[in-house]
Amino acid sequence: MVNEYEIKKQICEIGKRIYDRGMVAANDGNISVKINDNEFLCTPTGVSKGFMTPDYICRVDKEGNVLEANGSFKPSSEIKMHMRVYKHRPDVKSVVHAHPIYATSFAIAGIPLTQPIMPEAVIALGCVPIAEYGTPSTNEIPDAVEKYLPYFDAVLLANHGALSFSDSLLAAYHKMESLEFYAQLLFNARALGGPKELSDEQVKGLYEIRRQFGLKGKHPADICVGGKNSCHACGGCSVAHGVGGGAADGDLVAAITKKVIESLGK
Ligand code: 13P
Repeated sequence: MVNEYEIKKQICEIGKRIYDRGMVAANDGNISVKINDNEFLCTPTGVSKGFMTPDYICRVDKEGNVLEANGSFKPSSEIKMHMRVYKHRPDVKSVVHAHPIYATSFAIAGIPLTQPIMPEAVIALGCVPIAEYGTPSTNEIPDAVEKYLPYFDAVLLANHGALSFSDSLLAAYHKMESLEFYAQLLFNARALGGPKELSDEQVKGLYEIRRQFGLKGKHPADICVGGKNSCHACGGCSVAHGVGGGAADGDLVAAITKKVIESLGK
């Protein structure tokens, strides 16, 4: 098992990555990692997540109460949102919250990410719904997010940003990267006259490949079996129904996507 100091270093590295990639401005964003059922590491409130060192990282219990914090550091003001995810998703080991420009623009415009436009996004993310607006740091955001947790691995937060979670810190971060990339492509395609969506048959083929590879996490490929063709056909992803099983590894998704593209070309 990776020691705790290493995990703190990894949280700092991911913080730097979200900051360097413009997924957060100034002191925005927060990251947490589950150590065990009652111990979690999280970023402190009110600091730039791009310039943290391991001594910045706080330790909290499952209610978000401080177990350990150096100097004047206090846990993220959004710790309740993180804890709500862990409570409802025992498979989740890490949560990332950021304000990436394109994804947050969709969250502000009230447009969920439901259009099937590229294999990677369909396989790795499925759909990304929008949780109703809540005042930051209150229970309003956890309450709004809760109903989506059993069915999705990423959620937009209305007029605020995005939340992703997975079975490792890197996988949770990769979900955020995939989500932002998907949002950027969708934005650009809309500006170019509108995307040519993948057909229901093509989406079904991608879901089948996801199932064959046994990718973990909550995804319409697992939720919609026997129901509608896909979550993409449900309209807005506001109706969540069914269950699924962790997270897509980046290399695996790339390998699958290659296979899909090859088979689509036949
Ligand atoms: P914290 O610095 O308290 O984690 O808050 C940042 C943020 O993005 C709130 O939404």
